[in-house]
Amino acid sequence: MSLARLVQRRLIIVTGKGGVGKTTLTAALALHYANQGRRVLAAEIVPHPETPSQLALALGIPKPTEEPALVLPNLWAALVTPTIGHHRFLQDSLPMKLLADAAMRSAALKKFLSAAPGFSDMGVMYRMLDLMKRPNAAGGHAYEIVLLDSPATGHALALAQIPEFLIRVIPGGPIRRVAEEGLAVLTDPRITGTIVVTLPETLPVTEALELQQGLAKHRLPVTAIVVNRVPKNPFTKEEHAALMTVLGERTAPVLGSRELRRIERAESALALLKERAPADSVVLAEVDGAGSVATRNLLPSL
Ligand SMILES: Nc1ncnc2c1ncn2[C@@H]1O[C@H](COP(=O)(O)OP(=O)(O)OP(=O)(O)O)[C@@H](O)[C@H]1O
Ligand SMILES: [Mg+2]
Repeated sequence: MSLARLVQRRLIIVTGKGGVGKTTLTAALALHYANQGRRVLAAEIVPHPETPSQLALALGIPKPTEEPALVLPNLWAALVTPTIGHHRFLQDSLPMKLLADAAMRSAALKKFLSAAPGFSDMGVMYRMLDLMKRPNAAGGHAYEIVLLDSPATGHALALAQIPEFLIRVIPGGPIRRVAEEGLAVLTDPRITGTIVVTLPETLPVTEALELQQGLAKHRLPVTAIVVNRVPKNPFTKEEHAALMTVLGERTAPVLGSRELRRIERAESALALLKERAPADSVVLAEVDGAGSVATRNLLPSL
């Protein structure tokens, strides 16, 4: 099954280690669904609104803001910060909007919200739920599909851990209700899909499998492990063996030998993945270009 069909849910969380292609894949999936006529929100988790947007580069659009804006046909983009989540939470929980605005201006409260363990993730989760629930004029969802580009491995785990943590420590009230709602959304495989992106090398694949186990512990099942940037192998087995014999006889480095080793490493990494997680792993090829060019070149393989 194609990756886009496999992971299609209302909420798609893209996670994995640094630099593996999370943002590029988020952008490519967003374009794919938008081209199909679905209303899509591509959201990038960032610590502050001033953080440079990688999603903007991957989509070839101006820098998004915290308020979603239509950037391409059917495609909205937004930054998700903990602060916007806290602000929205206070607006929804306090009796008056003005109170929330005043509270958010309090330096002491801001410091508390950013320092208290779990509260920045809770802000991200609240905003995610808020955007998923946003209605449109026709009474449907403003965004049929929300794609969440997370910054680092820790984040999907944090999103998975935070509701359980809050439910354990908070007996009742609005925060607990948010945690319960978050847990229900995140752990429902009909609503949420998680993609772990990795590279075709043994260590990154092992780490992706560990992340898959970590997420599963928190009832956040991984829908797909994507091995990105897999080099094309132009050789048959026999050609490869013949080349290795020739290369083995050389003492000086030969042009292309590094690439050949990379192909070999990719093949062992893929064999390892097939053995440990045979279902739902998807391979995406190395494509030409960077930024939005790489995104568009990745589209046909989805
Ligand atoms: N399949 C691919 N083929 C070639 N280049 C790719 C591919 N996927 C991603 N890239 C390139 O790799 C670089 C890193 O990709 P990207 O920014 O999507 O990774 P990331 O996981 O989001 O990184 P970070 O952890 O820093 O957010 C970019 O320059 C991107 O264009
Ligand atoms: Mg990124």
